[in-house]
Amino acid sequence: MSAWRFSRYFLGSAPSITEARRFVTTLLHGWPVIDEAELIVSELATNAIRHTNSGRFGGRFLVSVQAHPNQLWLGVLDEGSPSSPKVFRPCPEGEGGRGLLLVTSLSTNWGVWGDDHGRTVWAMLSTAPHTAARR
Ligand SMILES: Nc1ncnc2c1ncn2[C@@H]1O[C@H](COP(=O)(O)OP(=O)(O)OP(=O)(O)O)[C@@H](O)[C@H]1O
Ligand SMILES: [Mg+2]
Repeated sequence: MSAWRFSRYFLGSAPSITEARRFVTTLLHGWPVIDEAELIVSELATNAIRHTNSGRFGGRFLVSVQAHPNQLWLGVLDEGSPSSPKVFRPCPEGEGGRGLLLVTSLSTNWGVWGDDHGRTVWAMLSTAPHTAARR
């Protein structure tokens, strides 16, 4: 399979989360990791809107999906904020703080690039045949 990449900007408002999910599921139709990819992008897009300047009036975020042999890279570029993404330890009573924990558990690797002016939070999924065979 050859490598490819698609990116699309979305307005930084709640309806864009559904649109970003649809963007991913359309691109990944028939892929074994489609559910994981949809969930990851949903969490990252929600964070971009909720925790960064992307959620301000006129703000936006960029979703990128990049396919490599045996790997899928997902990234959400936001418009930055003074805080940075951090994974909270599981807390049964806590209402929030589960999104990035979910991303870390679903992905083979994840990370953050950038600074207060804009960050890309990314996650990698394995699409190697042995991964697909587990399903
Ligand atoms: N793109 C981001 N830029 C800056 N800070 C972020 C970003 N994403 C997450 N964070 C920070 O990391 C914390 C943990 O994110 P996480 O998604 O795990 O939890 P949450 O968004 O607070 O709650 P939940 O996702 O469970 O609704 C957030 O509370 C926020 O402070
Ligand atoms: Mg979150």
